[in-house]
Amino acid sequence: VQGKTQAGASPALWSGRFAFIMAAVGSAVGLGNIWKFPYITGENGGGAFVLVYLACIAVIGLPIMMSEVMLGRRGGKSPIGAMAAAADGEGRSRGWAGIGIMATLAAFIILSFYSVIAGWTMPYIAEAFGGGFEGIAAEDSGALFGGLLASPGQLLLWHTVFMGLTVLVSAGGVRHGLERAVTWLMPALFVLLLILVGYAMTTGHFGAAVGFLFKPDFSSLTAESILVALGHAFFTLSLASGAMMAYGAYLKKDISIARTSVTVAVMDTGVALLAGLAIFPIVFAHGLEPGAGPGLIFVTLPVAFGQMPGGSFFATLFFVLLLFAAWTSSISMLESLVSYLNEKGVSRVKAAVGGGIAAWLVGITTVLSLNLWSDLTPLDMWAQFEGKTLFDIYDYLTANIMMPLGALLTALFVGWKMKPVHSAAELGRWHAVWFPVVRYLSPIAVLIVFYFNLS
Ligand code: PHE
Ligand code: NA
Repeated sequence: VQGKTQAGASPALWSGRFAFIMAAVGSAVGLGNIWKFPYITGENGGGAFVLVYLACIAVIGLPIMMSEVMLGRRGGKSPIGAMAAAADGEGRSRGWAGIGIMATLAAFIILSFYSVIAGWTMPYIAEAFGGGFEGIAAEDSGALFGGLLASPGQLLLWHTVFMGLTVLVSAGGVRHGLERAVTWLMPALFVLLLILVGYAMTTGHFGAAVGFLFKPDFSSLTAESILVALGHAFFTLSLASGAMMAYGAYLKKDISIARTSVTVAVMDTGVALLAGLAIFPIVFAHGLEPGAGPGLIFVTLPVAFGQMPGGSFFATLFFVLLLFAAWTSSISMLESLVSYLNEKGVSRVKAAVGGGIAAWLVGITTVLSLNLWSDLTPLDMWAQFEGKTLFDIYDYLTANIMMPLGALLTALFVGWKMKPVHSAAELGRWHAVWFPVVRYLSPIAVLIVFYFNLS
């Protein structure tokens, strides 16, 4: 039967194209769009960075997504298993399974800190619900956020709750419930972002924000910010982490990989741009710093909610939806490891609980790097990591090194090591456009970005 593994724990397939899109969008849309995209755009100067990011999505992200879903579906296995099977199928060295191993490791590291950040949404839900944002001033909002970061106990508590939620769904099998949840979640998030953008238009600083986001000032662009844009393209689309490969393994043969991938990329990009349009008008209206860093949305949005009619209601809804969006992403991060362990004979429950506990333990170092260990910058001897806390290091290592490298190797595999008849059988008429892109354009682009960051 199509796309299934022969192994004992044969996975059920997505019920159809829509279900896959929902799961993939659930994985893609998350903190990357709403938390990370705005703050790195602020840190990297706006327009030019956004343009490079969009180009990276189109020229590298999208073709790599097609490649990963294809490899996952052909292999019908975990990312590691699928890469090993792909290497065998092409008569290539099993060393190519290293792509799957690195992806699984990247997903694990990301999960460890993602859970900590996602945890922030929970005290924000409580605060919003209790009316705590009503009329709040920017400084007070900043102080509130600062207080949360300064409390290892609180951070640990919410990190624990979030990891528990992730393990819960993962242990039960991701196709249970996930389909249904994402079906209403994504439209709701979209509508809420539109409401926020509507509010942002009333701040009188919407034009400035549009200019900041879409008027490129190339003098603000550095080699590093290009690498950040590239890395974020992978992060936001859940690439080079096994997530799309793992989900691709549950995809029926008759569904168009190209069309579904385009849909996922467009929706993901739409959510990120809406988040930017909602946040920057507020940043400018209140004289806040666009480059404020990871706290950006947690400081700015409460101020906006605090001033709009029905603000406490919308704020509660917003942080609830952000929590769910992060949840559907974190589930997909754990899936790389769980599907692999499952293949090796470990039960799904044991794999999810074990993987979750391990990621939780590593996550504690992120919790501490935000307060007690905030001066600990252990990799100062390397220029790339200078001044970076453990949390910064996990982020940099995954988004700026492991993901671009994994994507590069994936492009080289599908572009040079896989027989074009095999990929054409999966991609149909889109193959003609996809093939030259993954064979030449994507790998060369990644190599150039790497080169300028190392020199
Ligand atoms: N794409 C998710 C986001 O933007 C993050 C993610 C990365 C999910 C890697 C799965 C794998 O929030
Ligand atoms: Na995303």
